[in-house]
Amino acid sequence: MSLLNKHGIIERNATLLFVGSLVVVSIGGIVEITPLFYLENTIEKVEGMRPYSPLELAGRDIYIREGCYTCHSQMIRPFRDEVERYGHYSLAAESMYDHPFQWGSKRTGPDLARVGNRYSNEWHVDHLIEPRSVVPESIMPSYAFLATTPLKVANVTAHLQANRAVGVPYTDDMIANAQADLLAQADPEADTSGLEERYPKVRIGDFDGDPAVVTEMDALVSYLQMLGTLVDFSTYDEASGYR
Ligand code: HEC
Repeated sequence: MSLLNKHGIIERNATLLFVGSLVVVSIGGIVEITPLFYLENTIEKVEGMRPYSPLELAGRDIYIREGCYTCHSQMIRPFRDEVERYGHYSLAAESMYDHPFQWGSKRTGPDLARVGNRYSNEWHVDHLIEPRSVVPESIMPSYAFLATTPLKVANVTAHLQANRAVGVPYTDDMIANAQADLLAQADPEADTSGLEERYPKVRIGDFDGDPAVVTEMDALVSYLQMLGTLVDFSTYDEASGYR
């Protein structure tokens, strides 16, 4: 009797087939799952990642509140067309401090994972106030009210603490200075040495062109301007050929 004929026995007996399938699937499952229990972290550590500054975090909340993720993704896939258009594909580590992540599932507009430093602050402000003033064919809605709405963060200290509770490594120093850091980042006159030490590469200044008030526009633009800028890909070493 050939092996093929023996297989016929299993195929003709539903119980045997079920038990056999279970055994095969279990082996596959164990091989995939057990190694994960022995890894400390499934996210590859990457130089340069840091938690969001308080102002960036506030801007991120506005991004979520306004539903920007319904039209914009923040995940560059490792495909040639995406990498050529948006830059280096996204690394897991780049969203490890995101609660919740903003990968998105729809691109009515372009991916924003590396939009930071690509345009000036003025461009972002003009674009958010009236997208068609800079991109005539744009179908993006206008968010002009952000420029006239003072930023209100009910309790930025608690916000950082909540993030720490879910694993974001905010230090005691960061939490103690949260409120001051929030204001200092948008104030070109402020002493920002502490802020810059706590949040390397943080972009400082008046984002919305109105230094008198910290608006929701300041927060949102500070967030957009840091997206994808933390990891230095000129020193990031990896084997794949997509660079
Ligand atoms: C209805 C869909 C839609 C929504 C909602 C939306 N956008 Fe857009 N966005 C677009 C489209 C389409 C473009 C491309 C045309 C343009 O540049 O205006 C775009 C472009 C952009 C760009 C320029 C990206 C680049 O690489 O050129 C930025 C930045 C941006 N949007 C930010 C935002 C932010 C922040 C929000 C939320 C406050 C938002 N968008 C909400 C559709 C949308």
